[in-house]
Amino acid sequence: MALPDFAVVILAAGKGTRLKSSLAKALHRAGGRTLVEHVVRACQRLKPRAIIAVVGHQAADVSAILKPLGVQIIVQEPQRGTGHAVLVARRALGSRIKYAIILPGDAPLVRSETLAELARLHQQHAAAATILSAELAQPAGYGRIVRREDGSVEAIVEDSALTDDQRSINEINSSIYAFTIDKLWPALARLRPVNAHRELYLTDAIGFLRAGGEAVQALVAADADEVLGCNTRADLAEVDLAFRRRKRAELMAVGVSMLMPESILIDPDVTVGPDTLVEPGVQLLGKSRIGAGCTIRTGSILSDVIVEDGALVKPYSVISSSYLSAETQVGPFAHLRDSARLLKGARVGNFVEVKKSILGERAKAMHLTYLGDARIGSETNVGAGTITCNYRRRRLHRCGVNDHK
Ligand code: UD1
Ligand code: MG
Repeated sequence: MALPDFAVVILAAGKGTRLKSSLAKALHRAGGRTLVEHVVRACQRLKPRAIIAVVGHQAADVSAILKPLGVQIIVQEPQRGTGHAVLVARRALGSRIKYAIILPGDAPLVRSETLAELARLHQQHAAAATILSAELAQPAGYGRIVRREDGSVEAIVEDSALTDDQRSINEINSSIYAFTIDKLWPALARLRPVNAHRELYLTDAIGFLRAGGEAVQALVAADADEVLGCNTRADLAEVDLAFRRRKRAELMAVGVSMLMPESILIDPDVTVGPDTLVEPGVQLLGKSRIGAGCTIRTGSILSDVIVEDGALVKPYSVISSSYLSAETQVGPFAHLRDSARLLKGARVGNFVEVKKSILGERAKAMHLTYLGDARIGSETNVGAGTITCNYRRRRLHRCGVNDHK
């Protein structure tokens, strides 16, 4: 996939008033990442000439996420609508790039393949604009695609401006478009803030292009989930569910078993090996890497954990930033954190907390124990109720138990 004639413009300056949040919309999270980061990642796979993001609300925080991803930042201040946001990016687009994919920072489920198809269709038909649309059972809130009798696109009408007849149209505007740049600027020059929000709407450019006899078409997304926008908390929850569903399907396809999969939450960067069983209510977070043939039993939460093949995590264990070697067993009700390391075959039982400690091969601590800053030798059996507690006069000493011989 490579689109050297295209630049991408991501519109992410908005506040997200409907979220009722002190955090800018682009920074809200779904499916384990910020919304805007999902969009950037989908665009990066297209290998466009440039990725430009228009930011405004909490610009510094949004830029801090975007800059390391190689995105060019343009600030829109004040924010006067989606059409205005594109106008602000005009200079950054320059005069040499032929096409732009313009998309919102709040529709994070869009796939690279769909964007590539949009670009391909746009070029193939030499259109002025190609809109990604979708048919939704509940179209309320979205702009609608109004078509002429011959089926061609006539205009986009915002939800607040729909006539009673138009309200039943269920083909919506995803706000994801391909534009031919030299056709775009004259249409944007005609935008006026004559709408409910007194903003310059990018959607109005479609009507102007059509009225001027330009070719405008719409590609109906095969998977309507891809265009879901995150305007409200309810939208965020729905989009999060869709991401989680995608991730689980991906893992099941490579041989991971799940019980009641809809109750399992897995972050996008997590990997799981084949023949591992994940039980209901489990969360696998961060950059966790779970090997093959493991069992992660119900209610356990693993965050940034490496688990080697054949390990067993019994119910309701909480493990973070730790390492479980092959054939280790943990739980039920265990807490491992801050670089706890269990070497091959080691076991930790119920109500045991392990912090920054190493348990040697086949070492055991099965009941009611706190192991902090300790090194427990191989084959050692740590008795019930043991505490290694080495905090003395502001200095942390390490505790060592030699191998059982
Ligand atoms: C927009 C579309 C609507 C479409 C819907 C799909 C317009 C006028 N309406 O509505 O037809 O169905 O998306 O989700 O375009 N933004 C800026 N600067 C601004 C205003 C907005 O960068 O001045 C950004 C926002 O941060 C957001 C995106 O543009 O990422 C879309 O804005 P939003 O307010 O969410 O528009 P919708 O009401 O969802
Ligand atoms: Mg929106």
